[in-house]
Amino acid sequence: MALTPELSKQAKRKEIAGILLGDATVDNWNQIQAFKAKPDDLLICTYPKSGTTWIQEIVDMIEQNGDVEKCQREAIQHRHPFIEWARPPPPLGVDKANEMPSPRILKTHLSTQLLPPSFWTSNCKFLYVARNAKDCMVSYYHFYRMNQVLPDPGTWDEYFETFISGKVNWGSWFDHVRGWWEIRDRYQILFLFYEDMKRDPKREIRKVMQFMGKNLDEEVLDKIVQETSFERMKENPMTNRSMVPKSLLDQSISPFMRKGTVGDWKNHFTVAQNEKFDEIYRQKMKGMSINFCMEL
Ligand code: A3P
Repeated sequence: MALTPELSKQAKRKEIAGILLGDATVDNWNQIQAFKAKPDDLLICTYPKSGTTWIQEIVDMIEQNGDVEKCQREAIQHRHPFIEWARPPPPLGVDKANEMPSPRILKTHLSTQLLPPSFWTSNCKFLYVARNAKDCMVSYYHFYRMNQVLPDPGTWDEYFETFISGKVNWGSWFDHVRGWWEIRDRYQILFLFYEDMKRDPKREIRKVMQFMGKNLDEEVLDKIVQETSFERMKENPMTNRSMVPKSLLDQSISPFMRKGTVGDWKNHFTVAQNEKFDEIYRQKMKGMSINFCMEL
């Protein structure tokens, strides 16, 4: 079934298969869908605010054998083409990817049903990072506040309803995580959790290294752990988005590298919101063998 862009009745929101996406994605949809993945591609896949930048820096450090200077060659958001993105700045992520030598490391926030079909037939690798929905929701709220291109999220209470109804860019957290989890054994997918990366970064970085087919010394792994810590990445201009103009990301409202912790949702959710969320979680994630919102 071809998925065609729809203009939602609510204002000028653009959706594909009921999933809200940025203009740049929807307006270039046919070109994005025609993208040709290759067998040696590695696609980093996340729902927004799940630790995408963190895993990108880890993957790049592994790829560069722990060479910090090589990882300083470009800001992180430009190192790995964001396949469904065109702005800012152009060219489109797929165009950048097409110009890149192999093996390519690419990035997406697309859910499984929206991914360009060639990814499923290419036999490439996928690295998915999931994060506790409640912390993801909080992180996305602050991102909506500081991102001058996204609509105003309103109050926390208003945003809470928007998020659980899935009417945020890239759609419902529940559908996204569920979709990727359910296919994890059918493709070459390494499924990681933000909370595990916080708890034992070296163990998780080693998993990524093995998945990428690399073999680095213990000292190099230790260096990668240090260089990809929240504190280091918050200071690093190549990872903290400080070079993005304020007209796009206003870090005086909320920094891009905000807290980098587990459990910040407890500072935002009311008791009633938590109960409501847990009930929706139970319905939406019914039958799943894993709890993504376990108390940590
Ligand atoms: P918070 O807003 O909770 O602080 P993404 O890159 O997918 O947009 O995710 C951003 C979230 O990941 C932010 O969460 C950010 O602080 C966090 N993050 C980025 N680098 C991190 C790191 N090295 N360690 C832990 N969290 C990190």
